[in-house]
Formats: sequence, structure tokens, C-alpha cells
Amino acid sequence: MDKQAPEMSQEEYYLKSFMRSLKKRLAHRREWAVAEETTGYRLFDRENNIPLTIDFYNDKYAVVVAYLEEDDAWVADAYLLVIQKALGISADRLFYKERRKGVRGGVAREVDQASVEIEMQEYGLFYQLNLSDHLDVGIFMDHRNLRGELMKYARGLRVLNLFSYTGSFGLSMAAGGASEVINVDLSARYLEIAKANFVRNGLLGDQFKFIKADIMQWLKDAVAQYANHFDVIICDPPAFSNSRAMAGTLNIQRDYLWLIEQSAKLLRAKSGVIYFSSPLQELQFQHRKLPNFKIKEITDFTLPYDFRKTKVHRCWQIRLYWQEKERAHGRPRKNFTPHRR
Ligand SMILES: C[S@@+](CC[C@H](N)C(=O)[O-])C[C@H]1O[C@@H](n2cnc3c(N)ncnc32)[C@H](O)[C@@H]1O
Repeated sequence: MDKQAPEMSQEEYYLKSFMRSLKKRLAHRREWAVAEETTGYRLFDRENNIPLTIDFYNDKYAVVVAYLEEDDAWVADAYLLVIQKALGISADRLFYKERRKGVRGGVAREVDQASVEIEMQEYGLFYQLNLSDHLDVGIFMDHRNLRGELMKYARGLRVLNLFSYTGSFGLSMAAGGASEVINVDLSARYLEIAKANFVRNGLLGDQFKFIKADIMQWLKDAVAQYANHFDVIICDPPAFSNSRAMAGTLNIQRDYLWLIEQSAKLLRAKSGVIYFSSPLQELQFQHRKLPNFKIKEITDFTLPYDFRKTKVHRCWQIRLYWQEKERAHGRPRKNFTPHRR
């Protein structure tokens, strides 16, 4: 009697093809990451109606985030098992988290294990990450291109890193030879990690500062001390913030013009550049409301290859309109070229 192969359910079929595509992707992206000089990258980005992102670190740790509607009853277990097998990692090296629409923040799955901290590398720099305890692990990898690019021409520049989080923009520019880097953030914990990252990379000294402040207040006071001072200002705020440590709230659609205009007061008038970035895709950026600025959206250059599917940020390069063509830190580029890909 003929032995018939047991029929595959639709679920099994999807899981099998998910496994195949992950394995194929991994083989390609592993090589790509070596050339890109990073040990962390996005492997999967909410594709084919599978609401997961997979970030892979040091070839052994995966952070999987499910993006769910408020009332979705998503059971991730079968997918997590496939991911584990495709990546060849044990269960204790896979960290699962959920973000639900309409629910602020997110949750890391309750696991009976101690905090897992690791170190990843990007362009030769070390970054401390915590994979287990929070939704954000300590680095925003979607800004890898801009960090790499800024690092290349940082020598001698004075840098202000607003909404610094764990300091990665400031760190890459300090490593590139910036003469001063001021990191400002509301969170003492993030600033501690930023400091630790600087120290770990041998970047020590009073020229690197870590200021805990509400930027909406700090920018008003800073004009007295830092008018016409910075060559580069990074301004990468969240879409919304209402921390109790703030006097008011931050709503980027409402406040982006103020942030740019206020930051510009601290910019070296002849040569300074602001890099403004937002996670808010639908941000209505009205150039005409900033008549004194020369503004160029550079998202096409700043989004790295592994973040192109969901386009997690937008980014603008902003100069004062009347700046001279020759700038203090090199000739102006016709095209803003991303770091090698
Ligand atoms: C999207 S993260 C910035 C990411 C960072 N630029 C990077 O590339 O790693 C937003 C940061 O803004 C900080 N933040 C939010 N509201 C703030 C405020 N009013 N003043 C200062 N920092 C604030 C948060 O603590 C968080 O670290």
C-alpha cells in the first residue's frame, strides 16, 4: 500500500516558508554585516503579514518584538520556535517583547531569568546593551548610517547631542575626533549608560559632558552660554513625551519648529548644521514655516539597508539659509552619501 505523506496544515506551511526565508536572509545578512562593520542588525522587519521584527546581535542573541493591535490575540510561540531554529540559538538567547497599539511603552515577556547585558560593536565602537529588561535595548540601529557618516567628518567639531539616549551619536562623533560633545537627556539612567559607553571606548575628559535636563527648558537657558557655538547639533526627539520630570509635554508635530529655531540659536552661524530626526512618519514638516533655513530631507541616505521595509525614521539636514558655500568642516557635498553599504 502506498504510504501517503501527511497533509500539511496552512499554519505548518506558513511556518515552513518563514523558516526557509529566515535562513536565506541570515546567510546573506551575516556577510553584509561584516562588510558594514556591525555586529547587530535587523533580520526581519514585519513582512508578509507577520507582525514581528527580529534584531540579531553578535550572531547569538535575538530580540523579537511583536507589533499588535490593542485586542490582537497573537500567539507567538510557534514563530519563536522557528526563529530559534533558523538562527541556531537556544531559548535563553531569544528575548520576546510586545508593543500594542494604543498602549504606551510595551512589555518584555515575564521570564524567570537575570538581566542579560551584552556588548555589540559598530564601526569599531563598543555599545553596552540590555536585551532582557526594556523594550529599547540601548542602541537605535536605524541611525547607523548617520552615525558612520558623522564620525567621518567630526574632527575638531563642537557637537550638541539633544535627546541623546545612551549617547550613540555623541560617541561616534567623539571617536571621530570632535573637540567637544554635550549629551543632553531627561533620563539619568540613559546618561549613565552613555557615560559608560564613552569610558569603555577610551573617550575620557571634560570635553565630553552628560547633562540631565528637560530639553524644552534647557534650550531656553543655553542661549546665554552657547549662542553661536556648535558646529553640529543632533536633535532626535521622540514623537511624544510626558515624563513627570518635564514641566509640560513634548509633542513633536506641535513643537518641531520651536525645537529647530531654538537649537539654531546655538549653531555657529557661518557653518553649523542641524540633523533633525523623527520616528513620526506622518510628521507634516512645513519648510515654508522655516524661511531662514536651507532644509533637505536625507531619509533616503540615513535609513540603512536593513531598515528600509518599515522606514522607522525620517531625517533632515538643516543649515542657516545665508551660510557661505564653503563650510568650516569641508566642502559641501552635492549628495549626502551614506556610509558604505
Ligand atoms: C528616540 S530616543 C533618542 C535616541 C538617540 N538620539 C539615539 O540615537 O540613540 C528619545 C530620548 O529622548 C529623551 N527625552 C524625552 N523627552 C525629553 C525631554 N523633554 N528632554 C530631554 N530628553 C528627553 C528620552 O529619555 C530618550 O532618551
